Amino acid sequence: MPETISLEVLRYSPERDAEPSFQRYDVPLHKDWVVLDALNYIKDKVDGSLTFRWSCRMGICGSCGMMVNGEPKLTCATFLSNYAKENKPVRVQPLRYFPVIRDLVVEVTDFMTKLQSVKPWLIRGDGKPISEGEYLQTPEQLDRYKQFSMCINCMLCYAACPVYGLDPVFIGPAAIALAQRYNMDSRDEGAHERMDVLAQHEGIWGCTFVGECTKVCPKHVDPAGAIQQYKLTATIERFKSFLMPWAAK
Ligand code: FES
Repeated sequence: MPETISLEVLRYSPERDAEPSFQRYDVPLHKDWVVLDALNYIKDKVDGSLTFRWSCRMGICGSCGMMVNGEPKLTCATFLSNYAKENKPVRVQPLRYFPVIRDLVVEVTDFMTKLQSVKPWLIRGDGKPISEGEYLQTPEQLDRYKQFSMCINCMLCYAACPVYGLDPVFIGPAAIALAQRYNMDSRDEGAHERMDVLAQHEGIWGCTFVGECTKVCPKHVDPAGAIQQYKLTATIERFKSFLMPWAAK
């Protein structure tokens, strides 16, 4: 393994630059270093103005997502040694399809607004007092939605989704998967409220089932599966409302 590796990092400062441009840095190549370690090395030793987000360094907070050699990756979970054999610089860019604020930091308001619009929390009508006990679930009921609850909002699935790239009004994979996490929870009663947002062209019907969202998810969530599953639910509900309006909620 070589002793150093080169990174080409996209730099952009709105006050200084008309256009983003790549800057090359040589960093030590340690076997256990991830891309985030290299960025921190550059920031600490070479150029303190390099700007990027990170927090947990253990694939939990979801804040260190970037494009690494054109693929959406959590940089804290992407080993530099994976790229050492390629014998060319590792390209690090901000997450695709999001506006860039500075260097590797992107604007996330669009995602946060969409996430909130699908009400990713438990909705119940009865408001049972705590003194009456918990809402219990069987392991089978938990298994129905558990994989969707692993989403860490890292937005890699948005950077992988060509539909979101072409049509930014698309609600997108993570928001729909998280809506399904609650729709499938036996304690939740909010599926009907979420349907108003999800069963639209900008919601599930915008998805053309490319499936890249599922491939890039670092937590093995299957947003593409959630969307197809929900298409079936929405279709059944639509038929119910036409044929049996008294049965549709
Ligand atoms: Fe938290 Fe990478 S720093 S997921």
